Amino acid sequence: MAFAVSYLPALPAIAQQNGDRQRLRMDADWRFKLVPAATLDKKTSITDWTWTPASPDEIGGALLLDESKRTWQPATLGQDVFNNQSGYALYRTTLPAIAGIGRTLHFRGVDDNAVIYLNGKRLMSHEGWDQPFDVSLDSAWNAVGENHLLVLVQNTGGQGYIWKDISLGLYRAPQGIGEPSQPGYNDSAWDTVHLPHDYVLNGPVTAEGDNSHANLIPQKSWYRRTFTLPVADNGKSVWIDFDGVYRNAKVYLNGRLLGEHPCGYTSFRYDISQAAHYGSKNVLAVLVDPTQFEGWWYEGGGIYRHVWLNVANRLHVAPWGTFVTASLPEPVPGQTPAAATVVVKTDLANATPSAKATLISTLLDAAGRVVATTSAPTNAGAVTQRLTVKHPRLWSPDTPTLYKVRTEIVLSGKVIDAVNTSFGIRTIRFDANHGFFLNGRPLKIKGTCNHQDFAGIGNAVPDRLEYWRVKKLKAMGSNAWRMSHNTPNPELLDACDRLGMLVMDENRHFGDVETTKAGAGTTANDFANLDSMILRDRNHPSVILWSLCNEEWIQGTDDGARLFSKLKREAQRLDTTRPIMSGMNGGFGAGISRVEDIQGFNYNSEEYDKFHAAHPEQPCIASESASTNTTRGIYQNDPLKGYATAYDMNTGISIATAEDAWRPIAEREYMSGAFVWTGFDYKGEPMPYRWPAINSNFGIMDLCGFPKDNYYFYQAVWSSRPMAHLLPHWTWQGKEGQPIDVWAFSNGSRVELFLNGKSLGAKDVPFVGHVSWSVPYTPGTLVVKAYDKAGKLIATDTVATAGAPAALRLSADDTAILADGEDVLPVAVNVVDAQGHFMPTASNLVTFSVTGLGRIVGVGNGDPSDHSPDKAAQRRAFNGRCLTIVGADRPGQITITAKAPGLAPATFVVQAVAGQFSEAPGP
Ligand code: GAL
Repeated sequence: MAFAVSYLPALPAIAQQNGDRQRLRMDADWRFKLVPAATLDKKTSITDWTWTPASPDEIGGALLLDESKRTWQPATLGQDVFNNQSGYALYRTTLPAIAGIGRTLHFRGVDDNAVIYLNGKRLMSHEGWDQPFDVSLDSAWNAVGENHLLVLVQNTGGQGYIWKDISLGLYRAPQGIGEPSQPGYNDSAWDTVHLPHDYVLNGPVTAEGDNSHANLIPQKSWYRRTFTLPVADNGKSVWIDFDGVYRNAKVYLNGRLLGEHPCGYTSFRYDISQAAHYGSKNVLAVLVDPTQFEGWWYEGGGIYRHVWLNVANRLHVAPWGTFVTASLPEPVPGQTPAAATVVVKTDLANATPSAKATLISTLLDAAGRVVATTSAPTNAGAVTQRLTVKHPRLWSPDTPTLYKVRTEIVLSGKVIDAVNTSFGIRTIRFDANHGFFLNGRPLKIKGTCNHQDFAGIGNAVPDRLEYWRVKKLKAMGSNAWRMSHNTPNPELLDACDRLGMLVMDENRHFGDVETTKAGAGTTANDFANLDSMILRDRNHPSVILWSLCNEEWIQGTDDGARLFSKLKREAQRLDTTRPIMSGMNGGFGAGISRVEDIQGFNYNSEEYDKFHAAHPEQPCIASESASTNTTRGIYQNDPLKGYATAYDMNTGISIATAEDAWRPIAEREYMSGAFVWTGFDYKGEPMPYRWPAINSNFGIMDLCGFPKDNYYFYQAVWSSRPMAHLLPHWTWQGKEGQPIDVWAFSNGSRVELFLNGKSLGAKDVPFVGHVSWSVPYTPGTLVVKAYDKAGKLIATDTVATAGAPAALRLSADDTAILADGEDVLPVAVNVVDAQGHFMPTASNLVTFSVTGLGRIVGVGNGDPSDHSPDKAAQRRAFNGRCLTIVGADRPGQITITAKAPGLAPATFVVQAVAGQFSEAPGP
């Protein structure tokens, strides 16, 4: 019996002969080992500090210590001494005596940069605002007298201070694990893991961990993978693609260092033609070091995206070597689109001047039919070919039609190399007065920003989950995704292409910096990360915008403009078909504003009109908006628990309510749209409350993808599918007779509320708003009915009072899963009462089991303050819901069972089917 994996769009099967080319996923059978961390013996906390303002001249190392001019004041670690201004400060303390060698001072972090002096000797400098680092003290330690420590702190923007939790101790190196880079190393005792893999998620949540990274402690690790290449491959081109390793990857093959890749977000590759063994074993070893951060959110750690082994004829299409652009006159609404010209640029690698090859480019439509074909003699370099699509079917979020170019190199009548490049035909235009146009029609961008992680799996997101997330957002009426603040998994872009989701793709690092923000004077000579994003992602029709940076300190300065221009020129060298912009949260009209194509506003909606009036020629978009904090199922702020009410009213603790953030966009034709911060909650950056909260509350959906009430607000204002939604729930035992604020969202014109069948009145739905009633609580059923302008009933929603939890219910968006060791299916748990009503406050502990062929991959519940592990087979329900994520290694039927003490258990059956998720994307 065949099961369709139903939420995947079907792809046409094209009989393929790829010449000598093979592209294999190398995700299975990696050996994995954590590197034990160093420790500090005889640890004492250093808490007693004073500080004084300092001068920039002191940063170079020559301390201008004119003590008579300084006033030292007590410093509270972790508190801003700069008043949100950039500048310099000196901190000092006297260290207690400590006997023994290896004296080390551990800093939890210095915001932003630090130079450390002991007894007048400069020991080291450290850049980066939130990373822990160690300073070795022995070289300047005074064994007999006092030890005076000075820290020169540079603040490049925002708040500045030394983080609290500084300790002095004796450095103890960890137990060595030998040299895993070497091929003879015995890794038989190591764990076997399957990629994508994020191991930081496995660690315990501890108060010492970095709160912005979900209090999980990153540690170094090794990965090893053996593979063989046939003797016949000797002489071919062989390379390995890493889609993403977080971070500082050091990659070895057969004991030889292939290279180091610091950035945790960009894809990279190594040619291994020379280093590989043919006909015998190869050992690939990767040292991963996620202990330094690149952002201020959970970043995970490990080989968290796919790894590919590629073998090709020496004359082959270079990796990322095809660039397909389609152009046509902007269509006129109501008229048939004109023919499209498709330009295919192909870079050939390892070209041999003697070869007399032919490059054939064949254009195929969505059904796999040949639309056009062209060939050119070639033996080297880049080739440009043109093809025509007479009657193009245009790509859009509603009709995500994809075409494909099949590129073949033919030598002596034989196809020696072939790749497929998927692309779409569409026109985009940003108009300074009328906003964004897709295929000639205005389209408001209704977007969300998102980070990568998800409940139960962290950053190791399997391909299909990306489709799952895009579908959840589309069902809300969203049509755009901002890849904040880094380029994503390639498969997420495939999902956006295939399902129809516009994309703002974003570069992680501004200039040659791997830290979070670029300071004044940053150069930009190394474009490797930017090039990687554009070369990899430029064929995706979903990508309509390149963002080169987000909220850089120097955004409003000439230095920022200089750096941006350099990066922009590089981006345009590789692609001129998309506008180039950034996310700015200040300095509008200055710095980067002057040199970017579109003004991106992060928040600051009061600046929109001022900017538009002063720069009427520059299109505008809200690159980030709202940052509305809400917790699913919570109706009162609870700072101690880290919960924010789900009513959209948190003006004090959010940047804006969802309504107040969207209204100015909806009202202004010139605003192309907005990207709401964020579609899903993410680990880390717990706002508005800190520890014990460890996850953000910004999501319109929680970490498990369960909608919060605001999901329905967005549905009401973004989607045309008739809907109504009521909040809060209607289970308020003990509050009988007390007034409850009842809200309704709807895209109808008028809504009427009924309590136990009795009307409580009808009201008009305001523009970008909600309707509310104050209802004295009486148990029973609350119903809202929504009507259109003509008074026709278009939607209803009901909330009913629930009794005690009595049973569990399991549900999922599919009943099939691929048995490939990677695919997952999120299975939701609802706690219900004896009548089957959803129980909105239930917190029962639910335990999961699966029959033989399946696996529990992880669990979650969307509670921002729950410290229990994601890698477990049990989870407490949070406000009536939790989630388990299941996977399968072999085909067959899987039964998932959920149990909770005293409740009727539930089961869910999934078919694990053989197969691969999709055809491999092009190299
Ligand atoms: C923005 C920033 C985001 C996130 C957000 C929280 O300024 O770009 O990464 O931190 O604030 O409100």
